[in-house]
Amino acid sequence: MSSYSPKEYWTDLADRYRHEDGKGFAPVLHPGAPDWFNLCVHELQERAWRRALSLCTLPKGASVLDVGCGTGRWVRRYTQSGYSPVGLDGSLSMLKRALELRTIAPLLAARLQSLPFRDGTFDCAQAITVIQHIAALEQQQALGELVRVIKPGGYLILLELIRGHAAHVVSHEAADWIDRVQICGTELISWFGQEFLLLDRILSGAVSFSKGMLVDSHADGLSLPTISEARTKGKQLARRLYWNVRRITVGLSTWVEPMADRLCPPEWATHAVFVFRKPLA
Ligand SMILES: C[S@@+](CC[C@H](N)C(=O)[O-])C[C@H]1O[C@@H](n2cnc3c(N)ncnc32)[C@H](O)[C@@H]1O
Repeated sequence: MSSYSPKEYWTDLADRYRHEDGKGFAPVLHPGAPDWFNLCVHELQERAWRRALSLCTLPKGASVLDVGCGTGRWVRRYTQSGYSPVGLDGSLSMLKRALELRTIAPLLAARLQSLPFRDGTFDCAQAITVIQHIAALEQQQALGELVRVIKPGGYLILLELIRGHAAHVVSHEAADWIDRVQICGTELISWFGQEFLLLDRILSGAVSFSKGMLVDSHADGLSLPTISEARTKGKQLARRLYWNVRRITVGLSTWVEPMADRLCPPEWATHAVFVFRKPLA
């Protein structure tokens, strides 16, 4: 993908992967990956989200804005935990899927860069893997908007990538994310690394590397339909093998994840979770 248009990109994913799983994970996590993989990534994120929430002193019924809420998994969890969430997303198709999944909370289609709320409306705002998908030049405006709509004394929870770039991904090192949010007028309460999956990352890194090195040296002498049929079968087989091996490496990595969390520097993770507080006026 050379140019990235957020609304079209996310709407396309929401429409194409609408019924991929019964939980709405595929459009917002790893579209096209097996269900077990997205479930595993979701469970790791949910553990981190609960840890972040435990760092905030939020009374039951507190108002929470979930920006870039996608198919609504966090909005539903906030409701189940006794808070009063509002979900906002730039893609109507994402919100339609959230409704299908029985997200019982106000849902709004709007852009994060200009939030349709008054200053100081919410006790807490969060963006889970959202700011990383906004163009570099607009990220600061989006962060400023998030801080603006939080009440003095309110909280901001972010879970964002701290490594990796693509047309639709603009990540930053943890220290950089912290600076960017603090200059909007917040104080950092705490941050930690999220998703180490060390063994699995070694395997998937090696596969991506060797994919780049592979050249098709077996096509000579075969007719075109035979080549394409053989390629399709080969690809299907390779894909099955790849995910079977990853099931093992992801399983082992998940098992040691609590240890990695305790022993490894947080910068080794792929994502980080940040909890900020807007000072009392
Ligand atoms: C990776 S998904 C994450 C969804 C959700 N936060 C979750 O964790 O399940 C990113 C979401 O951000 C939304 N999004 C991206 N840029 C946005 C923007 N500028 N304003 C509002 N939503 C945006 C997309 O439509 C998409 O639903």
